[in-house]
Amino acid sequence: MNGSRSVPLPEVSLPGGESSTLGSRIMARPDVHVWCVALDVDAAELQRLRTTLSRAEAARADRFVRQRDAEHFITARGALRTLLGCYLEVPPGEVAFRYGAHGKPVLAEEFAQRELRFNLSHSHGLALLALARREVGIDIEFLNRKVEHEQIATRFFSASECAELLALPHAQRSDGFFRCWTRKEAYIKALGEGLSHPLADFDVTLAPGVPARLVATRRDPAETARWEMVDLTPRPGYVGALAVEVEAVPPATPLLLW
Ligand SMILES: CC(C)(COP(=O)(O)OP(=O)(O)OC[C@H]1O[C@@H](n2cnc3c(N)ncnc32)[C@H](O)[C@@H]1OP(=O)(O)O)[C@@H](O)C(=O)NCCC(=O)NCCS
Repeated sequence: MNGSRSVPLPEVSLPGGESSTLGSRIMARPDVHVWCVALDVDAAELQRLRTTLSRAEAARADRFVRQRDAEHFITARGALRTLLGCYLEVPPGEVAFRYGAHGKPVLAEEFAQRELRFNLSHSHGLALLALARREVGIDIEFLNRKVEHEQIATRFFSASECAELLALPHAQRSDGFFRCWTRKEAYIKALGEGLSHPLADFDVTLAPGVPARLVATRRDPAETARWEMVDLTPRPGYVGALAVEVEAVPPATPLLLW
């Protein structure tokens, strides 16, 4: 998709408009919108969202062991369908997906002409939904959870990311870890490759105050120029990151000299 030719995304609102309890838009560029959705909804809203799911999605919801996980899946997927339906001007139940080799959902072939890409992430009762004219990946993490930062970083982060994390004062390491994690996750989700993409093969920024950026990509060095990263702070206590394909530069027009 050539971003330089993309038309702006339409202005849409969730059912209930400004006062919608489901969510609100937290980032708006002409061709990239990010929505934040609260996953704990009342029974009536949950029921409404459930009716928008496909049979396969409803069956997936039924397979969750914990009811809360099932409800969060229904809300996130239902909100995604609702929003995509608004952008595509079709009822949420008519939105259809297909899945990439590593499970990334994209719009089905029948919507291919609409040039709409999306990605979703959820954590601790909150979801982020990115909709764009260009390829996107998004990730959100709840900050206040106990994880073995150094152990996980040593296992999954690149050598330079580990060194940068361990150079931070102890009190800043947890947030640094989650900034790095969400940025890495947003990138591999934009690629659609999930964890099949070796996480140590690329570096992202993580230090406090340093903007989100893909610093180096060893598999294909040109990748760093292809992706922009954006920090997202959807709510206090959460960190988010967006990886979005940089607008393609239009091919140079040959200069004709007479
Ligand atoms: C599946 C994966 C893409 C994201 O998983 P996650 O971080 O647990 O979950 P998120 O909430 O961020 O994203 C899940 C959503 O991403 C989408 N998704 C699924 N597979 C995807 C893929 N290959 N690429 C992009 N998006 C994908 C789906 O919409 C999914 O929502 P659903 O479960 O409601 O259908 C994959 O990267 C993974 O398993 N990650 C594990 C986390 C990890 O170890 N990260 C290390 C970072 S250093």
